[in-house]
Amino acid sequence: MHGPLDTHNRNTERFTLRPFRRRDVEPLHAAVVESFDELHEWLPWANKRYSRLDATNFVKDSTRAWKEGRAYDFAIRADGAPDNHVGNMSIWFTSRAFRTGEVGYWINSSVTSRGVATETARRILEVGFDEMHMHRIILRIAVGNAPSERVAIKLGFTKEGVLREELKVRDQWLDHSVWGLLEREYRQHLNRTPTEAN
Ligand SMILES: CC(C)(COP(=O)(O)OP(=O)(O)OC[C@H]1O[C@@H](n2cnc3c(N)ncnc32)[C@H](O)[C@@H]1OP(=O)(O)O)[C@@H](O)C(=O)NCCC(=O)NCCS
Repeated sequence: MHGPLDTHNRNTERFTLRPFRRRDVEPLHAAVVESFDELHEWLPWANKRYSRLDATNFVKDSTRAWKEGRAYDFAIRADGAPDNHVGNMSIWFTSRAFRTGEVGYWINSSVTSRGVATETARRILEVGFDEMHMHRIILRIAVGNAPSERVAIKLGFTKEGVLREELKVRDQWLDHSVWGLLEREYRQHLNRTPTEAN
């Protein structure tokens, strides 16, 4: 891949994934506040003081990172409700030389357990493998985060190991499990029926 990703919308059956815009600050802030109880359990940036300024800075950094090709943050929107922030789906290279990347995500607590992460992460994997030509993509999931592990399993990832005390959340060191998906496994997984993949 040469230069940054194209900024066009990526669609799934129920959602649109698109780059962040300045007017996303309010809905992003509202979604983080609404989802605080679930987010702060696993994500270091999600603290009680998360402010509009944090959301503004996130959108600014995200726009800059996209232009520089450092990382691609997608805002998830439901078709028919363009002003509600459903969640974030992000992808970035960890090594361009070896075409390896990482995906990160969170979903608004008001719509969890309805397959949103699985559906939209599947679309971001398509971006990673088809547009960014990645060879391998990882997820890092805090040990104990059962919903996120379930997402990894549904997408065909393999649990590869545990990084001890890699992350500090709420003043506690957490272990991170590393989950990997190779391009050939992704292609094989796509050929399976949804029932077999579950
Ligand atoms: C993890 C997260 C992204 C999942 O999003 P989601 O849209 O609810 O995901 P999905 O609906 O696609 O899948 C969630 C799965 O976890 C299951 N699940 C939910 N709560 C669970 C629990 N407490 N224990 C075990 N499984 C659980 C759901 O039933 C579903 O599995 P199923 O389809 O087999 O029934 C969301 O909960 C979240 O944003 N959490 C906080 C931030 C976070 O952890 N981000 C990920 C960091 S790696």
